[in-house]
Amino acid sequence: MTDRKDEMQKENWEKSVDSVLKRFPERKDPFTTSSDIEVDRLYDGGNEVEHELGYPGEYPYTRGIQPTMYRSKLWTMRQYAGFGSASETNKRFRYLLDQGQTGLSVAFDLPTQIGYDSDDPMSEGEVGKVGVAIDSLKDMEKLLNGIPLDKVSTSMTINAPAAILLCMYIAVGEKQGVPPEKLTGTIQNDILKEYIARGTYIYPPKPSMRLITNIFDYCQQYVPRFNTISISGYHIREAGSTAVQEAAFTLANGMAYVDAAIESGLEVDSFAPRLAFFFNAHNNFFEEIAKFRAARRIWAKIMREHYQANNPKSWKLRFHTQTGGSTLTAQQPDNNIVRVTLQALAAVLGGTQSLHTNSRDEALSLPTEESARIALRTQQIIGYESGVADTIDPIGGSYYVEALTDQMEKEIDAYLEEIKEMGGAVQAVEEGYMQREIHRNAYETQKKIEKQEEIIVGLNKFGLEEEINPDLLKVDEQLEQSQVEAIKELREERNTEEVEKALHAIRSAAVDEKENLIPHILEAVRVYATVGEICNVLREEFGEYSGI
Ligand code: 3HC
Repeated sequence: MTDRKDEMQKENWEKSVDSVLKRFPERKDPFTTSSDIEVDRLYDGGNEVEHELGYPGEYPYTRGIQPTMYRSKLWTMRQYAGFGSASETNKRFRYLLDQGQTGLSVAFDLPTQIGYDSDDPMSEGEVGKVGVAIDSLKDMEKLLNGIPLDKVSTSMTINAPAAILLCMYIAVGEKQGVPPEKLTGTIQNDILKEYIARGTYIYPPKPSMRLITNIFDYCQQYVPRFNTISISGYHIREAGSTAVQEAAFTLANGMAYVDAAIESGLEVDSFAPRLAFFFNAHNNFFEEIAKFRAARRIWAKIMREHYQANNPKSWKLRFHTQTGGSTLTAQQPDNNIVRVTLQALAAVLGGTQSLHTNSRDEALSLPTEESARIALRTQQIIGYESGVADTIDPIGGSYYVEALTDQMEKEIDAYLEEIKEMGGAVQAVEEGYMQREIHRNAYETQKKIEKQEEIIVGLNKFGLEEEINPDLLKVDEQLEQSQVEAIKELREERNTEEVEKALHAIRSAAVDEKENLIPHILEAVRVYATVGEICNVLREEFGEYSGI
């Protein structure tokens, strides 16, 4: 009776739709998500939602990785920050912590990210520009001055020189009397997405993967609470991928790291609990939520079924989200506050563990203090005023979200199968497969924007005759000079013999693939060897990668 009654109700609705369409045809035909998944006119559960939802904190974690999620603890409010000198950035860090931020996230300048000291000719014009300049342990001590490392977790967005910055963090902990086993935080340490999308790589894939698995091995022994990698989809999406490609290529990279760690002799449950992820949150609200839920479910199955991991902590996909930088417009920058709010809400409804909300002016420059504050307040209003964190997975069971989660899972799995056929992510990257897929979608998206098939408010519709430029952050131009002088002083003050000895030990370890490089790098940073000096020794031993 109920089915018949439902069918009749649906038929009546369809009749009313037909009569309305004559006068008000639909705005688009078809409606699709950013991943070209067709969006039905209505979801009523008849789209055979295929999965038993299960419960939060239970495999495969569709509804979240923790049994109580945000009822026990809100996501970490972790704003990416860093510019100029270590002391300037330390001031911003302390400001953000005073304003209620609950975790740190370090942005390094480009020279640091690609392993050059501030006085290297390659660094000219870039010192302190897109992040903080860190040349030696001395800078790291200034960066973290007055910040208790046994209480605050710190994420470091550093990849090729990740081992060096991790060792500096450990060394600062030692100086604060905080033993390595008490340190918490994350090192991005994800080189594959650098080859695919971001570009701050130094060494060829093989030695790069060795440095990454050396970190896995060292941390599982000595720094057990530190997350050893943040497998990133953020930059893949920023390069122009779809939501499905973002999730699929990130999970494929994740599998490549697990394979490499196992091949290096590590047992999967010894390192997998400390793998972490990092995703983007773009504008298509429900697609982003479905993306997070599908990725979490897929990773759980990969870890338990494919890798036979036994520890449930190995099955849980824990992730940080940053709202989509590429969605910000330089035009009418205040509109970006609304975009970021919706994107942040999608991340929260998708169950993120940690969140960065972009500032309204970031399409124009690094954020001013006021813009960074509004970005943080956005998270706090969602967390403390909206009520969405007061029950677990409030969007779970939505006909549309569950159907979209199922559909995205299918499409992500299809990409994973294709990459597996190619021999895995490293091969796919070396063949340029992911890059081609991303560039194709980026081109298609740009065409849609130009044809106004995709509306960006203030950019290709609802524009203004003239733009009012807001006050922007200015980075001290003198910084480069003072950073260069600081290195000169450091080189005079430190014990050159000890530095030479430590650099030589790194070189000897580098040529023996069985050797873990981390203890040698830690010794070198303790005696104030610089990022550039250590990276140059490894450049000589590993060579530099010229790219795909
Ligand atoms: N019930 C029980 N336990 C809970 C809980 C709950 N509801 N909520 C949290 N916890 C526990 C967790 O299990 C954890 O304990 P553990 O460490 O012993 O397991 C502790 O509380 C801390 O919670 P989380 O681990 O969930 O939160 P964190 O913030 O510490 O970690 C993360 C989150 C995603 C795992 C971590 O990797 C992280 O912080 N990542 C951040 C990465 C980041 O900020 N990246 C920025 C990159 S910027 C960039 O690249 C863009 C640029 O290029 C433009």
